[in-house]
Amino acid sequence: MGTRFLPATKAMPKEMLPVVDKPLIQYAVEEAAAAGCEHFIFVTGRGKNALEDHFDHNPELERILKERGKFDLVEAVTSWMPKSGQISYTRQSEPLGLGHAVWCARDLVADEPFAVLLPDDLILSKTACLKQMAAVHTEVGGHVVAVSDVPREHTRRYGILDVEHDNGRLARAKGLVEKPDPEVAPSTLSIIGRYILHPAVFDVLDRKEKGAGGEIQLTDAISQTIGMVPFHGLRFEGTRYDCGDKVGWLEANLAFALARDDTAEAARDLITRFHG
Ligand code: G1P
Repeated sequence: MGTRFLPATKAMPKEMLPVVDKPLIQYAVEEAAAAGCEHFIFVTGRGKNALEDHFDHNPELERILKERGKFDLVEAVTSWMPKSGQISYTRQSEPLGLGHAVWCARDLVADEPFAVLLPDDLILSKTACLKQMAAVHTEVGGHVVAVSDVPREHTRRYGILDVEHDNGRLARAKGLVEKPDPEVAPSTLSIIGRYILHPAVFDVLDRKEKGAGGEIQLTDAISQTIGMVPFHGLRFEGTRYDCGDKVGWLEANLAFALARDDTAEAARDLITRFHG
C-alpha cells in the first residue's frame, strides 16, 4: 500500500513513483525484457489503473508530439512498450501477502519457469540483474534469487538464506526464513526482489498457508520446495536501491542521474552545490 511514501502514494500507486523521469514499474519491465522475458504479467489491485495506462498508447499525446516534430519524445513514450498480447493483468483483491500475489498469476504462468520482480527494489547495474540471474538459471535450474549481504540487525526486513554451500558469488541454500530476528537468523544473506522460480511453488501456494506477519509468504512456499528443486542465491553485480523508502528513493535518483549521459553533469553540479 506504499504507506512509507504517504502522502505521495495516497492516490497514485507506488510503482508509478519516478526515478529521474521513469516510473519504477517501467524499470522493472525493461529489466525483464532485457533478460528475455516475452510475457509480462502485472498483479495489480484497486487504485492501480495508472499502471495499465502507462503500458498502452496515448494517441492524443503521441499525435501532438508528432505534430510538433518531437519524435524523440514519441520514442520516449512508446519504444519500451511490450506489444499487444505480451501483457496480462490479474488483480489481487485482498492484500494477503507476496505469495498470494504471485499465486494470483498461476493460471497465466502455467507450467514453466517464471520471474518475479518487485519494482520498489531498483537495481543499477551494467548487465540487467535478471539477465545475470537467467544466465545462472540456465546452468543450475530450479529457483534462483538475487541476494545481498546485509548487516545482521537488518535481517528482520528480508527473506534470509540458510546456506549450505557458498562460493562467494553463488550460494546454495538448504532453507529460507522470512524476516527472522537477528539472534535467530541463519545467515545475513538476504533476498532482494528478483526471483526466477520453478512452477512447483504454486503447489505450495495453493495451500494458502500463512507465515510471518500473518501473510501468505513467497519465501515459505519456496522454502518448502527445496529438496525437490535446487535453490541458489546469486550475489549479482550492481547496486540495489530500496525505493519503497524515502531515503533509498532519493539515493536512487542521484545514482541513476549520475549514471545517465543526459543528467550526469547537472547531477554532479547539484551535489557539489549542496555539499558546500
Ligand atoms: C519481500 C519478501 C522478502 C524479500 C523482500 C525484498 O518483503 O517477502 O523475502 O527479502 O521483499 O525486497 P517486503 O519488502 O515486501 O516486506
